[in-house]
Amino acid sequence: MTQATETPDKKPQRPFVLGIETSCDETAAAIVSADKQILAHQVLSQIDDHSEYGGVVPEIAARQHISNLDHLVAGVLKDANISMADLDAVAATTGPGLVGGLMVGVMTAKAVARAAGKPYVAVNHLEGHALTARLVEDIKFPYLLLLVSGGHCQLLSVSGVGKYKRLGTTIDDAVGEAFDKTAKLLGLGYPGGPAVEKEAVKGNPTRFKLPRPLIGKPGCDFSFSGLKTAVRRTAEACVKERGALYADDRADICAAFQTTIAACLTNRLKNAIKLFREEAGTDTLPLVVAGGVAANKYLRAELQKTALDNNMTFHAPPLALCTDNGAMIAWAGMERFLDDPSIDDFEMAPRARWPLDSTAIPLVGKGKKGAKA
Ligand code: KG4
Ligand code: ZN
Repeated sequence: MTQATETPDKKPQRPFVLGIETSCDETAAAIVSADKQILAHQVLSQIDDHSEYGGVVPEIAARQHISNLDHLVAGVLKDANISMADLDAVAATTGPGLVGGLMVGVMTAKAVARAAGKPYVAVNHLEGHALTARLVEDIKFPYLLLLVSGGHCQLLSVSGVGKYKRLGTTIDDAVGEAFDKTAKLLGLGYPGGPAVEKEAVKGNPTRFKLPRPLIGKPGCDFSFSGLKTAVRRTAEACVKERGALYADDRADICAAFQTTIAACLTNRLKNAIKLFREEAGTDTLPLVVAGGVAANKYLRAELQKTALDNNMTFHAPPLALCTDNGAMIAWAGMERFLDDPSIDDFEMAPRARWPLDSTAIPLVGKGKKGAKA
């Protein structure tokens, strides 16, 4: 049994919620209790299945979820030492994400829910990231959220479960996508974030100067696509000058890239803090950082510094709960279930797109179905 909170091991309090995550390349399941204990959790990464393609292949992802998910669900029930009948609700990521994978998770969750005679809770993957910090700490609403993942880069004010107001978003690439593309350009493999972070530790961040899109401009939006081009040009210039891209070149580019990302994030964050504070009408407020990129130690430290310098408290989930996992989905399901015990989203189908703030104008992925992020 894993303690999400610092409290000593104690008998878990019902309700118990099973959470399933299959929106991208992790197959994950977890069971959490109302008193914030993670009774069991398993994550199966598909990195090896996708790495030779340099990114996630949706068809392969869906097939792997099918092969693995039922074993994972049986595994967490066994680890938690409970039966299906002991569950109070079953939650699954219902969007946004790759539809093939979402269908596997949603259908499995609905089947378990109906077999156990319990409600099905449709969870927005982004809400899973957004609420994870509350599984780990007692953070009250409202809080400012910086959501940084492979598909998203957004600043949101969170005033309750299901209550999100977008303050800023990326106008092109997501921040994790920028890490992944940089890694691919430098031949560092997939997923790029951890690989770039490892290289950056060894590098000199001042050797190369990269552009800092939107810094100093008003507003809270982000832009990272120019950075990717600048990384490519810098690498090409190194090859031209020295005949090849050497280990020190690679490390220095990664260090410059990471410090530039930190500068962009902290600059936009400062603007968002001002906006959020005006809206909330109070001074000291929590900043929550969530999503896979929040696993980056350098970025965490820089964001924490900005938060503390601006009289905010800083909160980020432990590293294993930053990247995709089942506990975040189980916990978001728990929050929704506690909010409305009569909830049952059985009629809801998977959604490739599902913005947290449905009133915000889409800046990327415009289309009939609305915003991608
Ligand atoms: O939240 P997540 O697991 O999946 C999505 O919902 O997208 O985030 C995955 C993203 C990938 O782009 C990955 O490269 C990035 O998070 N990531 C990192 C680190 N660990 C994962 N980026 C920077 N530094 C890391 N240590
Ligand atoms: Zn995610």
